[in-house]
Amino acid sequence: MATRVALIGANGHGRWHRRRIAELSGVKLVGLADVQPIDPAPDAPAFSDHRELLETTRPDVVVICTPPHTHLPIALDAIEAGCDLLLEKPPVTSVAAHETLLAALDEAGRSCQVGFQALGSMAWARFRDALSPKTSGLSAVASWKRDDSYYARSPWAGRRVVDGRPVVDGVLVNPLAHAVMQALAAGTAAGAGRPRQLQVERYRVRDIEVEDTAFARITFESGLPLLIAVTLAGEDFIAGEIEARGPDGTAVLEYPTDRLSLPGSGPPNPGSPASGPPGSGMVEVPGRTDLLSDLLRHRAESTPLLAPLAATADFTAVLEALTLPDAPEPHRIKSYVDGPNRTIPGINALLRRAAAELRLPSELGVPWATTPYRRRLPVH
Ligand SMILES: NC(=O)c1ccc[n+]([C@@H]2O[C@H](COP(=O)([O-])OP(=O)(O)OC[C@H]3O[C@@H](n4cnc5c(N)ncnc54)[C@H](O)[C@@H]3O)[C@@H](O)[C@H]2O)c1
Repeated sequence: MATRVALIGANGHGRWHRRRIAELSGVKLVGLADVQPIDPAPDAPAFSDHRELLETTRPDVVVICTPPHTHLPIALDAIEAGCDLLLEKPPVTSVAAHETLLAALDEAGRSCQVGFQALGSMAWARFRDALSPKTSGLSAVASWKRDDSYYARSPWAGRRVVDGRPVVDGVLVNPLAHAVMQALAAGTAAGAGRPRQLQVERYRVRDIEVEDTAFARITFESGLPLLIAVTLAGEDFIAGEIEARGPDGTAVLEYPTDRLSLPGSGPPNPGSPASGPPGSGMVEVPGRTDLLSDLLRHRAESTPLLAPLAATADFTAVLEALTLPDAPEPHRIKSYVDGPNRTIPGINALLRRAAAELRLPSELGVPWATTPYRRRLPVH
């Protein structure tokens, strides 16, 4: 019998989920819910209230792809209705909400996969397996460009709080959330324990409430440092690179493209189009398990989930730290190049240098640098 799947939040990224559900065999889309008119037109019963959808269509699995500040109440309603969840990232916006959701899942015997899809790649599995307690430093670098239309896309774009609830659309925990999640998971895979200390400098070139550029140093229990350097005001595009330094060299994972370079391993097919530029050693490692398929398999065969809610605890602890009352507002950078995309001159070199030296702009003598915000991350 087909698994009954419903989608809550059908526009925006929900359209990608609609296409994915339509492609999967053994799945029936039983309903869509959105508070706005659904575009393209619904191909299943549509509802403007998710509770009505749950009651009327009785889904087995619900995909939740609404703005972050709405995730918790919708997820709790879906669990109460007996559903397993594919919940988009960021799953929740506080450690308390994370624990509330975990407890509700536990009590109801339900499962929740979180939409960190890069955790389902073969490239990630190989990168992770190459890490060890000898890993001495981690970094994550990404340089993206976002124009005015990006910040006009949704009522929650660029916002810190919506309807009195944190939505936190900053670069660290939304557009480049995958970089942060992947790098935190790398620390765990290296046996470094939990992240304990956060030092973060957040910047913006736009009139937004959150950061579009950020540098964060996270120190794990073992002392392993992770430097995250990301921007939406970048020069040349850097898709997203996680680097791990070890005694034998550096492993690099470009997580959006599943390209990988491991120390001591040249490209298996140096002439193949999937290989990176000569000398880069980057090779595409094909193969991704889709998170909804993985959830369906988990339901059928009790296999472990690729991105279970519990595995996102450290990500949520970092996110929450940015919402606390003593967390400073992102510092405004006045010197940027204007245009459809605002660009910070020299930003790519700075991202690379920060990652290489595991240091923050304030420690690198950058003239516009601000004082880092320091926070001990909660033990949970
Ligand atoms: N995994 C990824 O790579 C990825 C990519 C993009 C977005 N996302 C995540 O997906 C989620 C949605 O992002 P988006 O960019 O599609 O946002 P969006 O604002 O474009 O779309 C969200 C949709 O949810 C609807 N909605 C809002 N409140 C609702 C409610 N209470 N009930 C039903 N529908 C409601 C809105 O009307 C809208 O159609 C966010 O958590 C975002 O971070 C994940």
